[in-house]
Parts: sequence; C-alpha cells; structure tokens
Amino acid sequence: MAYIVAEPCVACKYTDCVAVCPVDCFYEGENMLVISPDECIDCGACEPECPVTAIYEEDELPEKWTEYVELNERLAGEWPNITEQKEALPTADEFKEVESKRDKLSMNGA
Ligand code: SF4
Ligand code: F3S
Repeated sequence: MAYIVAEPCVACKYTDCVAVCPVDCFYEGENMLVISPDECIDCGACEPECPVTAIYEEDELPEKWTEYVELNERLAGEWPNITEQKEALPTADEFKEVESKRDKLSMNGA
C-alpha cells in the first residue's frame, strides 16, 4: 500500500509534498506529480503538506479517484524524479478549487 496523488494536484502542482519526502519518491509531469508505489515507505509526511488535499493513503482514496492508483504507478515509471520544491504552476490559483479537472491532466513528463 502506498500514498497516492489524486486529481486536486492537476494544474496546481504546489510541490510542498516533495520537500518532506524522506525517500524522494515523487515524479513530475507537466502539470501534476505522482508517487512511485514501489518506493513510497508509507510514512505519511506528505499528506498534510498539500494545500489542496491531493494526497491520500490508498485505503482512504475517495472512490471517484480510484483511477489515480493506476496512474501513479504507471506515470512514476515514465516521468522524471523531482527532489526539490519549486514554484507552483501559474494556473494553481485558478484551479485549486476546481472539483473536476481530469480533462486537464497532461500525460507529458516535466
Ligand atoms: Fe514520501 Fe512518505 Fe509521502 Fe510516501 S508517504 S510519498 S514516503 S512522504
Ligand atoms: Fe500536488 Fe499537493 Fe504535491 S498540489 S505537487 S500533491 S503539494
């Protein structure tokens, strides 16, 4: 079981989560991060750091975001590792309260 980055991250990418991960298991896409389930040690440090509550323990992931379990696993194998916090996306303010933004998710790596 691992922690999962879900839809609220899309088009925001605040990256506060990256700063606290002890094993550097975040991977960066153009407009979202994912967690490698093979590397996450389930420490839970990242979950409270996300300003938009995008990170969930897999057991607690809201059902509407089940797809993100597979997306985190797959995209972590395709996107580059990110180990340092950076500026949030310019679209973060505009999208931080948008409930449904799956159609905005870019599959491209950073
Ligand atoms: Fe990293 Fe811990 Fe979050 Fe897993 S739960 S991604 S190890 S900070
Ligand atoms: Fe995304 Fe939240 Fe991290 S918006 S980049 S999961 S701090």
